[in-house]
Amino acid sequence: MTIYGKCKDRLSPIILAAGLIAGIVSVPAQAKELNIYSHRQAFILNPLLEDFKKQTGTKINIVFASKGLIQRLIAEGSRSPADIILTVDIARLQEYAKKGLFAPVSTPLLKANIPAHLRNPNGLWYGLSKRVRVVAVSKDRVKKGDINRIEDLADPEWKGRICTRKGSHVYNRALLASLVTAHGEAAAEKWARGLVANLARKPQGNDRAQAKAISQGICDVAIMNHYYYFLMKKSKNPHQSKWAKAVNILFTNQKGRGNHINVSGVGLAKHSKNRALALKLMEYLSSKHAQSLYAAVNHEYPANPVVDASAEVLELGRFKSDKLPISAIAKLAPTAQRIIDRVGW
Ligand SMILES: [Fe+2]
Repeated sequence: MTIYGKCKDRLSPIILAAGLIAGIVSVPAQAKELNIYSHRQAFILNPLLEDFKKQTGTKINIVFASKGLIQRLIAEGSRSPADIILTVDIARLQEYAKKGLFAPVSTPLLKANIPAHLRNPNGLWYGLSKRVRVVAVSKDRVKKGDINRIEDLADPEWKGRICTRKGSHVYNRALLASLVTAHGEAAAEKWARGLVANLARKPQGNDRAQAKAISQGICDVAIMNHYYYFLMKKSKNPHQSKWAKAVNILFTNQKGRGNHINVSGVGLAKHSKNRALALKLMEYLSSKHAQSLYAAVNHEYPANPVVDASAEVLELGRFKSDKLPISAIAKLAPTAQRIIDRVGW
């Protein structure tokens, strides 16, 4: 396997050499090459693609880019070599779907492996892993039982004690969309106003910056995606491991609808010339073996419910997910954004 390019913002193709056709997946003799356009970095995909290569002899070319893949696909049109698109977050998946860049697919295996609430109802995309929007609290200053519901963050008792990134970031917009579904627009706005009134500082920074602020005593409570806890904990940067050590991670709404989640996901490129093989790869990615590998690399929870999270992730424990269809969150994103603008989050 050869890897070209390291820069996160530059396209970096990865060529996986062909191997022998073997194993559980049968492949038409003429189609042994796939092109993946990916927002996920190569290190997350490599173990899986090596395994798929061993099973099928498929040569896989990855175009990785954190930005610009949608524009590239539109520019390429029907000449696009892309077969599979891998990305994170419902907002991105929905954007591909809205721009007509995915082809609808449905196979019994995909439907059996990925629960209905984690896939597009028309088969335009399938969730591959779950990312949980958790609450991080100061180990020293907040007791674990003090916050049970995400709704609690609007209670006046937390005045001046909460940090978040901007509301308009897709992670927070999706969280707010889940609250709109649970309680209606007016109540979700009331919650967002309460949250903003409780902020210790103007919304700023990324998710990790909120844990940093807790470690510095700027605030006691923050909202973040769960995998950042592990990324900080394992970071080579000693500051980041200190930030992780300063917090406990709480799942919210465990006695009710469950904790809000988002997904990473996959879709078949509209103009794929290798549809059958691409479908095999999608099915493989949803399979038991691939799911445990895929989720573990970025400390996520597998989308396939028969697969458990890695031992490391289970340090946080198993949790109950909000079963609200992820596609409903995408539809409510504009409503959530209007609330965010109105309350100044
Ligand atoms: Fe993230």
